[in-house]
Amino acid sequence: MSKRKILGDFQTPVQLARNVISRLYADGLQWERILEPTCGQGNFIRVCIEQAAGVREIIGLEIQQSYVEQSKRIRSELVRISIYQQDIFDINLATSLQWNTLSPLLVVGNPPWITNAEQGRLNGKNLPGKSNFQRLSGLDAITGKSNFDIAEAVWLKLIHEFVGEPVTIALLCKTSVARRVAQFVLDRKLPVNSMSLYHIEAQRWFNVAVDAGLFRLDLNQGEISYDVAEYDNLLDASHTRTFGFYGNNIVADLDSYRQVADLEGTSQLIWRQGVKHDAAKVMELTYRDSVLTNGYGDLVDIEKDYLYPLLKSSDVQSISSGFVPRKYVIATQKKVGQQTLHLRDTAPKLWRYLNLHADQMDSRKSSIYKNAPRFSMFGVGKYSFQPYKVVVSGFYLPARFVVVSEYQGKPVLSDDTCYSLSFDEEWMAYLVCALLNHPKVSQFLASITFSDSKRPITKGVLERIKLNAVYKQVNIDQLTNCATTSFGASVNFDRTNVDKQLQLFEDRE
Ligand SMILES: C[S@@+](CC[C@H](N)C(=O)[O-])C[C@H]1O[C@@H](n2cnc3c(N)ncnc32)[C@H](O)[C@@H]1O
Repeated sequence: MSKRKILGDFQTPVQLARNVISRLYADGLQWERILEPTCGQGNFIRVCIEQAAGVREIIGLEIQQSYVEQSKRIRSELVRISIYQQDIFDINLATSLQWNTLSPLLVVGNPPWITNAEQGRLNGKNLPGKSNFQRLSGLDAITGKSNFDIAEAVWLKLIHEFVGEPVTIALLCKTSVARRVAQFVLDRKLPVNSMSLYHIEAQRWFNVAVDAGLFRLDLNQGEISYDVAEYDNLLDASHTRTFGFYGNNIVADLDSYRQVADLEGTSQLIWRQGVKHDAAKVMELTYRDSVLTNGYGDLVDIEKDYLYPLLKSSDVQSISSGFVPRKYVIATQKKVGQQTLHLRDTAPKLWRYLNLHADQMDSRKSSIYKNAPRFSMFGVGKYSFQPYKVVVSGFYLPARFVVVSEYQGKPVLSDDTCYSLSFDEEWMAYLVCALLNHPKVSQFLASITFSDSKRPITKGVLERIKLNAVYKQVNIDQLTNCATTSFGASVNFDRTNVDKQLQLFEDRE
């Protein structure tokens, strides 16, 4: 099983391969040469022989000898088929293969869907690091990342090696990989003429819960374009939206984005991610019937000064009026890097509790805890302890912004799945929140984010919202209405006060 996983060995069902080939040939283009770079049992090759009009030569490469044997059994009277046992990371795919002609080339297949981190856990070494590959532009950047997808490395290798000739590359891969590849070709201004992403049901075909599709990219075949036509289904006749780039910013739906592009800017207000401690069982406590318990079910007795109501993503989605915390979080610091040793004297019960769980606290994996004071946390600062916050979850679309006020005299902290803005004045929090819940902001956020990403809303996304552009387009009555309908609270904004605050929303240069 491990070897299968390391090699990302999930053979494409014949029917899916048929649908892929039908899709690629739907607009009448033909290729005389076809390369299947990781051909496995050869299902794509079989289907190409059946369906690919005009094909004369097919080369299949595969690392596993048993699959090579299977693929070698494929016969055709009309098509010259060559199968080689080959680790693709060992050769240059554009110069090392012996073709009979130099006619148009289609590269089609399904490279491994596995990340280097998953591979590392399985002790695998199917990594691009051989020959001069690692020095290729861009690849050093991705292989330097802690986590990248092997399929992304295959894409970059193919693009890099075939950049000088007309070629169509169409591979099944995760949609996140397709987006990074699109960003890669844009950043390097490579001669790409068209890109399309056709979603497939990965659960149905491969029994995996990821968003995936057929990503097609045409190189050196005419006018340059970095727009990506996105189809909800492989066989749909027309695309549902176009994702692409506006300047260097990736945009999920270009048509929708163009209608609200005036909101693109740099937020003057600083978005903060919630508290991070990587020890939920120790640091997050439940308070019920005057009793505090931790994630192990143990009763906890600590100084209450260090305990704050905690808001989680699911709370943000469900709050209607008034937040009643389900959990509390221990705050060992008021700002990042603050010494914690003083807790021994200022909060002896808390100190004892933390020491009781020192094993778990000291073995937190993230490198941010190395060389930090003992029992440190992150995402704390003056802003964490301000009384009013506008909070949004990173996980959900459409984004829902809520105002959270102090609970029983204590500021509410959010966890690191949320982002927030902090305020000293309540009306400011309501004003900003009303602006953020304005339909134009919702449209803007929907147009720049991908609903299939794990965390569509990030600090980077939120910082792109130019609040003064929204502010200039609405009047106080609309804002009051928006605030009232969003929060169920009746909020009256004072125009003079609001106008004074306009400067706050001016763009940060
Ligand atoms: C997702 S499977 C797909 C197989 C085939 N393309 C298909 O669509 O049915 C990925 C294939 O890549 C092969 N593979 C993995 N790493 C490889 C490498 N470095 N060079 C060549 N083939 C490799 C695996 O053995 C496996 O057969």
